[in-house]
Amino acid sequence: MPRTGEPLGGSASPPIAAIGGVHRRCEGMGMTDERIRAFPNATGPVYFDEETNVYVVSSHEAAKKVLQDSGFSSDRADNLDLVARLGNMDELPSLVSAMLALFTDGPTHDRLRYHVARRFTPKRVAAMRPRVGAIIDAALDGVDGLDEFDVIADLAYPITVGIISEMLDIGVDGAAVVLGFASRIVAFMELRPTDRQLLDASEAARNCSLFLLPILTERRESPGDDLLSALLTMEIDGDRLLVEEVLTMVVLLMIAGHEAPAHFIANGVMALLANPPERRRLQENPYLYGAAVEELLRLHHPVNYLSRTATKDQVLAGHHLPAGSQVVVDLAAVNRDPARYQDPERFDMLRSDPGHLSFGTGVHYCVGRALGRLEAEETLRRLFGRFPDLTLADTDLTRRASATFHALDRLPVNPKPLA
Ligand code: HEM
Repeated sequence: MPRTGEPLGGSASPPIAAIGGVHRRCEGMGMTDERIRAFPNATGPVYFDEETNVYVVSSHEAAKKVLQDSGFSSDRADNLDLVARLGNMDELPSLVSAMLALFTDGPTHDRLRYHVARRFTPKRVAAMRPRVGAIIDAALDGVDGLDEFDVIADLAYPITVGIISEMLDIGVDGAAVVLGFASRIVAFMELRPTDRQLLDASEAARNCSLFLLPILTERRESPGDDLLSALLTMEIDGDRLLVEEVLTMVVLLMIAGHEAPAHFIANGVMALLANPPERRRLQENPYLYGAAVEELLRLHHPVNYLSRTATKDQVLAGHHLPAGSQVVVDLAAVNRDPARYQDPERFDMLRSDPGHLSFGTGVHYCVGRALGRLEAEETLRRLFGRFPDLTLADTDLTRRASATFHALDRLPVNPKPLA
């Protein structure tokens, strides 16, 4: 049973204050940033949650070991048991399982990742900065002149969906598909999905595939200068991806490429709205936005938990974990580990001990991290540059009823002070 006070996938999200979550208060912010917690507070670097039979990792050092050591696998097939148990299902729908295979450790994952990562190198992403800036400016043009807009629906989604759709060159129809289907497919990443969510995710994945298949076929015949064509035609040491592999990868990129970055942007805007001194400092010193993004990632990351399975007996922070144990890395605790960070709750963009695990680490280290950083940095700089008096339009905000994503349902703002 979920412990969040609201069944995941429930129709209405609870108000933030009503969620039995942990208060994450950042000094000087004057606002709580509560996370929906799937597990109780840390009682040490590693503890065993008896209700779900999961080891929960809260220390930075132990988290790095879990994410970097090949003795902890990201094999979702192993995790199916956990997902199914938490979601009260016997097994996952087949299309969803096929997508989860992409996260699985081993040659399939490594091969796919090798192909995809070549298109997301820091150099390639840096070259995208002008185009990313233009897409952000177009989205800002769309809200300019309004008395109120929603940072998520009117800005963050159009920006992140626009960027990934343009990279794939799937046009306006494709962007609508990303927005309509990907947000449903993302349920397979939930820690505790409901049966309904998983079936819905499976149906959305099927519809997404039906939209993409003809485009893939056409692009294979006459490739363009886009990410989709590159994935279809790229040959590394004589190895090419199969059409169905590209299809699954593209669906994953559609989801990963817009959900986490969009909600991170919104979390970042809310954190800065709640922290006028730091916001002013940024507005006066716009070159600091890059450093601010790193500190925002540490404290306001959009992904809450990363899960792994021990493939052999392990010792973790003095705990003996038998092979087959399920382990969850609690990123909110790890990024605030007092053994790693001085004054961990304080927002300090120039801290002497920077760094975070918000993109993971190890073989599954986020492929799109350079792009995610760029999108957030440029959006915050351009948003607060264009609307220096931006204020929160409504303080009655709700969080998405999700254990996996730390995401607001909406973030209404006034671009100008109301007369
Ligand atoms: C602020 C933005 C983002 C955050 C916080 C984020 C977070 C993460 C995290 C935590 C993981 C690791 C999952 C694990 O270890 O189990 C991950 C993996 C991944 N991310 Fe991101 N992500 C972001 C943006 C993006 C973007 C923009 C893309 C692509 C366009 C992307 C594509 C991926 C992919 C493909 C993986 C799977 C990598 C693998 O398994 O080898 N992400 N992301």
